[in-house]
This record gives sequence, structure tokens and C-alpha cells, in this order.
Amino acid sequence: MDVESAIIGRRSIRRFKQIPIPLEFLKKLVNAARLAPSGANLQPLEYIVINDQKLCDKIFPALRWAGYIKPEWKPDKEERPTAYIVILVKKGISQFSDIDVGLAAENIMILAYSYGIGSCMLGNIDRDFLRDILNIPPEYYIHSVIALGFPAEKSVVEDAEDSIRYWRDKDGVMHVPKRRLEKILHINRF
Ligand SMILES: Cc1cc2nc3c(=O)[nH]c(=O)nc-3n(C[C@H](O)[C@H](O)[C@H](O)COP(=O)(O)O)c2cc1C
Repeated sequence: MDVESAIIGRRSIRRFKQIPIPLEFLKKLVNAARLAPSGANLQPLEYIVINDQKLCDKIFPALRWAGYIKPEWKPDKEERPTAYIVILVKKGISQFSDIDVGLAAENIMILAYSYGIGSCMLGNIDRDFLRDILNIPPEYYIHSVIALGFPAEKSVVEDAEDSIRYWRDKDGVMHVPKRRLEKILHINRF
């Protein structure tokens, strides 16, 4: 898959087939994160890959899904992610760590998409709960979690008109409004 197709085609996926992702692929995703740009090349990020299904079940309650979908929704047991990458920031190293995370996360999600793997970045997470279960030392901030798995849902982009809230139609397809190019692009002057 070419880069443009991957960037344009990737959508957040929150329902997954219960097929394991080979560890080799998960390592390639972390390698793609490792190679992302990093402010002053300080590289404050580390990653925990979780592919043990019992551990996946254990961390699931720490995650919050698709906040705009009401009533509150989460993936059913048979459509949960089959792997996760937890993104950790070592404290006191870089003032640009949030930017580094964004770049690393996008590398992960774009490469995953090119392998046919769906992903969703999760920032609404119970950090204390995760720290406890995963034994994460206090010198690391738990930034976010990327949920992964082979997709079991469809998500499409539409032009945002009044609302940016994503929504699901009656067939379960997610619709993601994005602001139109004309609204955000300024050429030569504002
Ligand atoms: C920093 C960040 C935090 C996010 N946190 C969550 C989350 O906690 N739960 C969730 O279901 N989606 C989360 N998302 C996914 C966004 O909802 C999603 O990217 C957005 O709706 C646009 O959809 P798209 O990724 O398909 O383009 C997060 C995305 C980002 C970038």
C-alpha cells in the first residue's frame, strides 16, 4: 500500500475480529514508532506490547470508548482488541514528549493499517489501574494506549457541516466528520 492511501484510508477501529496479531507485526509497529521524529532527538518514549489474551481482558476495564456514542458504548467481549501498545513517556527528559507521542502513534497506526490491522488511540484511560496491572514504575507517565486488531467494523469520513461528532448508522458503520479542506487551508495569507 502506498503512503497516501494509508494516510487517507486509516480510520479509528473499535470492533475487532478475534484473530491474534503475530508478535512479529507488533514488534514492527513499535519499530516504526522508534523511528518517528523526536524533538531534539531525546527519545523519551517506551512501549509495552500486550498480546496475552488474559492480560488484554485485565486491562480492558481501564479503557473508555467512543465518547460521542450514546448510550455509553464499549466493544462486546467477542469484538475486543486482541493487542495493545501502551505508550510511556519517561519523565524529565523532553518538553516535546506529547508531540513525539503523536508522531510515534501515527506511525504505528499507519503501518498497522498497511498490514490490514485496525487501531484506535485511547487517551481516556484509567492510568492508576494500568500502572498497577502492568507494574509501570513511577518515573514513567502513561500517555495513551493504542488498541489493535483485525477490523470488524467499517468507518467512513464525511464532510463536517454543523457537528464534528462521529456517529454510527443503523448498519453499524461509523461516520467521522472532518472539517472541509476549504475551511482549514489558507493560501499565502489568512
Ligand atoms: C489523543 C487522542 C486520544 C483519543 N482517545 C480516544 C479514547 O479514549 N477513546 C476512543 O474511543 N477514541 C479515542 N481517540 C480516537 C478519536 O476519537 C478519533 O481519532 C477521531 O474520532 C477521528 O477519527 P479517525 O481516527 O477515524 O480519523 C483518540 C484520538 C486521539 C488522537
